[in-house]
Order: sequence, then C-alpha cells, then structure tokens
Amino acid sequence: MSEFITVKKRTHYCGALRATDTGKTVVLMGWVQRRRDHGGVIFVDLRDREGLVQIVFNPEFSPTVHQEAHHIRSEYVLAVQGKVRRRPEEMENPELPTGEIEVMIDDLDILNESKTPPFVLDTSEEISENVRLKYRYLDLRRPEIQKKIILRSQAAKATREYFHGQGFIEIETPFLTKSTPEGARDYLVPSRVNQGMFYALPQSPQLFKQLLMVSGFDRYYQIVKCFRDEDLRADRQPEFTQVDLEMSFIDENDIIAVMEGYMAHLFKVCLGLTLKTPFPRIAYRDAVDRYGKDSPDTRFAMELKDLTDILKESDFTLFQEVAGGGGVIKAMKIEDGRKLSRKDLDGLKDYVAAYGAKGLAWARVTQDGWTSPIFKFLKTSEVQQINARMAVQEGDLIVFVADKPGIARDSLGNLRLHVARQLNLIDPAALAFTWVTEFPLMEYDDTEKRFISMHHPFTSPVNEDLPLLETDTGRVRARAYDLVLNGSEIGGGSIRIHSQKVQAMIFKALGLGQDEARTKFGFLLDALEYGTPPHGGIAFGFDRLIMLMTRSDSIRDVIAFPKTQKAACLLTEAPSKVSIEQLLELSLKVIQ
Ligand code: AMO
Ligand code: AMP
Repeated sequence: MSEFITVKKRTHYCGALRATDTGKTVVLMGWVQRRRDHGGVIFVDLRDREGLVQIVFNPEFSPTVHQEAHHIRSEYVLAVQGKVRRRPEEMENPELPTGEIEVMIDDLDILNESKTPPFVLDTSEEISENVRLKYRYLDLRRPEIQKKIILRSQAAKATREYFHGQGFIEIETPFLTKSTPEGARDYLVPSRVNQGMFYALPQSPQLFKQLLMVSGFDRYYQIVKCFRDEDLRADRQPEFTQVDLEMSFIDENDIIAVMEGYMAHLFKVCLGLTLKTPFPRIAYRDAVDRYGKDSPDTRFAMELKDLTDILKESDFTLFQEVAGGGGVIKAMKIEDGRKLSRKDLDGLKDYVAAYGAKGLAWARVTQDGWTSPIFKFLKTSEVQQINARMAVQEGDLIVFVADKPGIARDSLGNLRLHVARQLNLIDPAALAFTWVTEFPLMEYDDTEKRFISMHHPFTSPVNEDLPLLETDTGRVRARAYDLVLNGSEIGGGSIRIHSQKVQAMIFKALGLGQDEARTKFGFLLDALEYGTPPHGGIAFGFDRLIMLMTRSDSIRDVIAFPKTQKAACLLTEAPSKVSIEQLLELSLKVIQ
C-alpha cells in the first residue's frame, strides 16, 4: 500500500486543470503518456480519463524528487503533488485544454511500473485492429476511444432521464429464455438441470414487452443486451444493446412523437445540437424507388429514376428484352460528372457487377448532345424525354442499369452511396433523420418458398389491407416504421396485433401450422385472450446510434469489449473449448 495515496488524496483530474488553478497545490494520479528530458529538467505528460497535463521535475526545485523521476517510463502509474503555474508564453500549447499551465512537482510516488506497451498509445498512425482488441485494456486508455465510451455513458443517462420523464417504467426481462423470432439464428444455452434442453438468448425482448402490456404496465422501456447469431458487418455485433420500449393505447404517431422527443433530448444533452422535428417520413415503396434502399441516406439528392416507360421500345435490344421480361431500366444523374474519367466509369461498372448488374450504360451530357455508347440506339424523342425526366444540365453524367427490379435497385442504390463518397457529396456535419413507413408485412422468400415477416410476426397489418392477406399477400402493408439516420437503420418497430384471431391469420399466411405456432408462441397466444390492450413499440440500436453520434467508422469503437467479424473476443479468447467434465455434466457431445 502506498503511503502517498493513504495520506494524500487526489484533488483534481489531470485534464481538468486550467489557468484559473494557477497557484494551487494539487495532487494528481495518472499514467505517463511521455517523458522528455530537457537540459536536466524532466517533463512528463500525465494522463487520466479527463485528459493530459504537463508536469515538471526541476532539479533546482526539488532535487530528490527529480532524481526519482529518472526512473519514469511510458505508462507508469504516478501519484504526484505540485504547484500549478502558468507556462512561459512561448511554451503554451493551444492544442491542449491544459496548455496554458504546468505543474511543478515536489512529491512523487511511482505507484506501478509498466511493460512497454505493444503499440504506442499517442499515435495517429493506424494500429492493427487485432492488436488493439487483444490489448483492449490499453487501447481503451487512448483518449479518442475513452471519449466515445464516456459519451455512451452520458447517452445512457440521458435515455433514462427522458423515458422516466415520459412516464416509462424500466423492467428487466430474462436472458435465459425461448427463441424470439427476429430473423437471426439463436445463441443456445444448454440446461444442466433439464438435460437435452436449451434456452435461447433473446434476440430482443419482443414477446416479454408485449406481455408487459397485457399486464397493464402501459409504458415499458429497457436498455438491454440482445443476442443474434448472424453474419457480422461493420454495423453489427453478435451481442448488442437496444433501447427497447412498448406503449399501450397508442398509434404510430404517438410512438413517432415520443421517439422524436427522445432523439432531440439525446442530441441536445450529449452533443449540444438542436434537431429539427418532426422528421420527414417516406413510404417504403418510395424509399426503394428513389434511393434503391429501405434505409435511404438523404444527406444528398442523386435520386434514381425509372426510365422503363421511355426506353422499353428503344432500338437497344437489351433494353427491349429487359423491359419485356419484367425488368426495369433505372438511371441516376451524377451532377458535374466530368470529374469521373473513363477509367472511373470502368470502376463504377465493376462496382455494380458485385451487385449482380450485367452492365452499366452511361451518357455524358455535352453542349452538342449526348456522348454515349448507347446514343446510336436511341431516338431523339427518347433522349429528350430522358433529359427532361432527369433534369439534366451540361456536364452531367447519366448511368443506367437494365435488369431485374431487385438488381437494378440494389446496384444503383449502392452506387449512389459509392459515388457520393467518391465525389465528396456528403456534408460531414449533416444529420438526416427519416422515418420509413408502410413496409410490406411479408415478403416472399425464394429459398424457403414461402412468405416471411419483414419485421416480425407480431406486427399488425394495416386494417384495410387485411382482405388481401390470402389473395395478394405481398401487397399487405404493415403498421411498421423504421428510423434511419444518415442511411443507417437506427431503430425499428410496429403496432402489434392484439387480437388472437388476426394473429392466427398471420401465422397461417406465414405457413406456420397451428401446432407449431402453439409450441413456439403458445404463451403469447394465450395471453392475447385475456384482455390485451392495443399496443406498439420500437427498439433502437444503441451501439449504432452512438457510432453515428461519435462519427465512428465501426460499431466496435463504441463498445468497450467488442467481438471481431468472426464473433470472437481476442482479449479473452472466447469462444473456447470446454472441459470434457463440463460437457458430461450437460450430456453434450461435440461432433467434429
Ligand atoms: P430490430 O430487429 O429492427 O427490431 O432491431 C432494432 C434495432 O436494433 C439494431 N440492431 C443491431 N445493432 C447491432 N448489431 C446487430 N446485430 C443488430 N441487429 C439489430 C438496429 C435495429 O434497428 N423487437 C424489435 C423492435 C420492435 O418491434 O419493437 C426488434 O428487435 O439498429
Ligand atoms: P454492349 O453492346 O454489350 O457493349 O453494351 C453497350 C453498353 O450497355 C455498355 O456501356 C454496357 O456496359 C451497357 N450495358 C450492358 N448490359 C447492361 C445492363 N444490363 N444495364 C445497363 N447497361 C448495360
């Protein structure tokens, strides 16, 4: 036990000292970012979670302490006492919040030593992510990562404040539970007491929160871990956090209003930004037609246009064939496309090929008309109509994809984002929130050869569409809504079915037999018969939200201990093998 920390207590965080503290005697504790020796005087940047301050060991000021300071190395842990003074003017560092001052040290205790870290902490150089994750506890010392984790904590606090203020009750729901149908694979946990049986970790608290509405809690919320065994991408983790809520006696507009209030509160408290509400809304169909995606990035225009009606009878046989075979011809206008060279165009063609597009036709709009490999196939009237629909100006570039609707949409929808990044069309400070509404209730799954829920099977259909359920299933609209921020889906929810009869109809349309439905969700079906209020809710992806708020590239940057793309934790080396005894206890055998 160090004498020092028993006798002297920390008075300030390093990063919190300011010029107004000049003259004070302070006690600091922290890590050594750097040590520099200058003609006998030793300067150390001492770091804690609030930032850095320069501390000074001067042989004339305190010879024994100065002697001791020679042992200091990077990442050593120090306790120091000293006097704050203004730096000489030429030594001020305007980059640093503490840059006007330094602390003249008269007492030092080296609380602990450190091995040389496997990477330099104060670098702007790219460090391999695998190394960072293996030594995550060191990576987390880096101020830029710490800031993100601290903002996450502030956001959680602001979330709780807001929902309590709105009359929500925080209720925990179980982790050892039954499968919830959110569309991913479940993580299973074997039961020792009930051999051969498994719990599933929840993909969301969906069923429990609906039951809480049946119980009469009226407004529930929870900041909760969810588990999904799915293929990981930059914005997905196998375990992630939702801000999950449910409300009774409401419709979609009530939920949307509460959520807009939540976003406004969160951005104000955490980032000092005032959001403009209400947020724009767009119907799913329009989002897909205009942006090629159901999570449109509306920070920039460059909308897609359908030209099938104009081009279906052109002399370009490919266009005729595609249009005749149920396909579409879609196009996108790139303003000032002169910036894209012939080689860039080849790059775009390769880019759309990855989404299955067989080609990318293009046309440059010049003073004398079009320069385009397809110009010779087109009639003047067709070119004129296209020019009018795309509202072209000289210098614009039009790109076309003729293909099945899904491919045309995906390839151009992604190309739109790619080109916007390539040409710097995105305002880095923009925050574009959009509600996407009127999702189809179900979509046909070619592999499963049946309709599957787009959201989940408890989502209410739009009442007037119910008669279509058996005749034109794909056209039934859902009372579902997603919130999109800068092209990322940050939340999704719906008004639920509160009638047993409608729920049974939906299960039937999904090809879920009565027995199967009972085995899977019997408890919910039973509950629906005991006076279920109309209800609905939403869940936000908290990690994604923090990722966007901190403008991080990866969801991993805002999670203290994240997993890799292969769902592994490099720090603890989970998942790992277990002993034969553990397997025997659970009656499990590993087949390899
Ligand atoms: P949904 O499945 O749309 O809805 O999930 C809600 C939000 O959670 C986030 N999210 C993820 N974030 C990180 N990693 C993942 N693997 C991941 N999967 C989803 C997304 C998404 O918008 N029970 C319903 C909500 C409801 O109907 O109330 C649900 O879970 O940001
Ligand atoms: P081709 O006659 O095959 O050289 O094609 C003429 C132009 O049409 C080229 O610029 C091709 O890239 C383009 N093209 C080919 N297939 C498609 C397609 N499915 N959609 C749009 N353009 C295409």
